[in-house]
Amino acid sequence: MRGGRRRSQERTIGDIARVTVADVQGQSEGQPALDSDGTAPVVVSVRDVEKRFTIRKDNSLKERVVTLGRAGRRHSEDFWALRGVSIDISAGSTVGLLGPNGSGKSTLLKILGGILEPTTGTVRRRGRLAALIELGAGMHPDLTGRENVFLNAAVLGIPREEVERRFDAILQFSGIGDFIDTQVKFYSSGMYVRLAFAVAINTDPDILLVDEVLAVGDEQFQKKCLDKIREFQQQGRTIILVSHALGQVQDLCDTALVLSDGEVKFYGSARDAVQNFRDILEGRRVAEAEAAAPEENPTPGEVTAVSLTSGGAPITGLLAPGATIEVTVSVANETRLDRWNCGFLIENSVGNLVYGTDTLRLGSTLPPLDTTATVQFIVPKVVLGNGKHFVHAFLSDERGEHLAIQRDAATFALEDEWRYLGSHRFAATATLLGEPDSELSVPAFAETSE
Ligand SMILES: Nc1ncnc2c1ncn2[C@@H]1O[C@H](COP(=O)(O)OP(=O)(O)OP(=O)(O)O)[C@@H](O)[C@H]1O
Ligand SMILES: [Mg+2]
Repeated sequence: MRGGRRRSQERTIGDIARVTVADVQGQSEGQPALDSDGTAPVVVSVRDVEKRFTIRKDNSLKERVVTLGRAGRRHSEDFWALRGVSIDISAGSTVGLLGPNGSGKSTLLKILGGILEPTTGTVRRRGRLAALIELGAGMHPDLTGRENVFLNAAVLGIPREEVERRFDAILQFSGIGDFIDTQVKFYSSGMYVRLAFAVAINTDPDILLVDEVLAVGDEQFQKKCLDKIREFQQQGRTIILVSHALGQVQDLCDTALVLSDGEVKFYGSARDAVQNFRDILEGRRVAEAEAAAPEENPTPGEVTAVSLTSGGAPITGLLAPGATIEVTVSVANETRLDRWNCGFLIENSVGNLVYGTDTLRLGSTLPPLDTTATVQFIVPKVVLGNGKHFVHAFLSDERGEHLAIQRDAATFALEDEWRYLGSHRFAATATLLGEPDSELSVPAFAETSE
């Protein structure tokens, strides 16, 4: 199967699943040999790739009839899903593809996999490739899972004996059990992906392309896939994956590409790419907020001022992990409120709520709000992930119904606490058990910063 020059193959069976093999130039097993200058060879080379789609605008039958043979052309429009993409991917690297919805990630992945042809530009690949791009790719709905495995393999040119030898491994990895003898049209989305991924990894690819399809698998299967991807990394295989889980990209990928409106905005370390992508998202969020029509104040309540300080001083630059912050919220209501609640929420740059509290939750007994009041919240140890955070402040009634909310009232960003991962960076220590004299404790920021 391996070695020797062979015509690149790519096949689709049915409209559900797709696994491709492109064995442009045979490549040795395992860790790829280094080039003469000691660097990993380039296995995917993309030059000036552009992809144009033609979008038909005549969406009604009547319109089609009316425009038939006349102004029909005017009713289709060119859309450039990719523009000027040039990248090299080295053997053994794991590359994340990041970008907002519709930015061209799946299109690029399909072009890398040879499933779509670029309108202009070239893509060169070295090694055997497996692509897991569309849900259920490569399967015929009327055939059973078992028949699909053999059909898939046959299309990929894998000898039947080899499939028979690998069949148990595929079945076991997929975890779909007796459903293997059920027609795949009765499979759930997760079952499709389980079988497709199991087949893809068993075709022994040098390059694995994975779109977000893995996200439909359950937690246990996703973990299994991630373990497999890590195993592939150790074996020096090349992995290119699309993910909206920024933590996962930072964790798993060494390199990442950021696409926006079909153009490469950044290609470099995964960490910098994630930051770059967050900046793009933030820019869009701000633009959308500005574009939204200014709302008439529908309620009598108002958040009049919000200030964010650390140890009483304004926050300039990055906040040290473990630092204290004070959130001071001033509110007003046109009428006196006997019972009221005031609080704040902190969201990270991808819009996930990472923290929040309010006076009701904190059990504070507040006197009636006689039109204005100011509440200060003190958070003694902020252990959030790095990157920008947004503070929203609100006034609500005693049932938690918002009377006023000021979104993005303040922002702050934390220094990267490299000892920990994730959106919360609690301090931890490590000790080797059973070795009283061995001290493995790493000084944690929460202790050292005090
Ligand atoms: N076959 C097609 N015909 C016309 N337009 C298409 C086609 N495929 C993709 N597009 C358009 O190209 C753009 C990029 O699509 P693509 O699927 O690559 O985005 P994406 O970055 O993968 O987005 P998402 O995060 O939502 O998966 C979109 O505007 C999409 O509408
Ligand atoms: Mg996509």
